[in-house]
Amino acid sequence: MKVCRLDKFLADAGLGTRSEVKKFLKAGLVSVNGTVVKDPAEKIDLENDVIEYRGERVAFEEYRYFVLNKPAGVVSATEDRNEQTVLSLLKGEDTKDLFPVGRLDKDTEGFLLITDDGALAHKLLSPKYHVDKTYHVTAEGKVTDDDLKQLEEGVDIGEKALTLPAKAEMIVSGSDVSEVLLTIHEGKFHQVKRMFEVIGKPVVHLKRISFGPLALDETLTPGEFRRLTDEEIKALKGI
Ligand code: URA
Repeated sequence: MKVCRLDKFLADAGLGTRSEVKKFLKAGLVSVNGTVVKDPAEKIDLENDVIEYRGERVAFEEYRYFVLNKPAGVVSATEDRNEQTVLSLLKGEDTKDLFPVGRLDKDTEGFLLITDDGALAHKLLSPKYHVDKTYHVTAEGKVTDDDLKQLEEGVDIGEKALTLPAKAEMIVSGSDVSEVLLTIHEGKFHQVKRMFEVIGKPVVHLKRISFGPLALDETLTPGEFRRLTDEEIKALKGI
């Protein structure tokens, strides 16, 4: 039997923070097996009890999945002595057991998946699955069609092998700075920056705009997060 406190269950299910949930409980909006329960510490059986909030069944979610639009200036870690971490941005959430899936550099922005589902994270990061990651890259100098071809075919970033075939699409080929959409299927340390170093056009700004089947939700401003929808979770699990 999997047992959990009622307030934790409701907060984990996305109804609100622990203190918001306590207010719903006090207001008599939650029932367990048809009986109104007001005690946040009530122990519930996750597999068998029927929990309802305002008459609607609240499903048991074993894991939690968030997308954060990571701002620059925070590190992709669960804790850090000196730096602000991405987990500290998940205001109102119980961050115990949560971790970011992979890393974005401190100065990189964009899509970051945060979950407590270790098995899914392992799969998404495994080189076997080649999950696509698309970056909006702003680079110094004029990126040429020949540069795009090199990025696509593979460049020597000092690893054992060339980078895997990638997709590089020009957005702006300016004389001072250029913008490129680069989709890679692997995730070596500083990979995008190292690839652009090879073509002699250093990255000045980097933002991840998609991760596997999911695109960054542009309504999320940097630093904002939301839960993934059931469809998005299904899509991630289906890779
Ligand atoms: N490649 C990089 O160089 N940095 C990132 O943060 C992500 C990919």
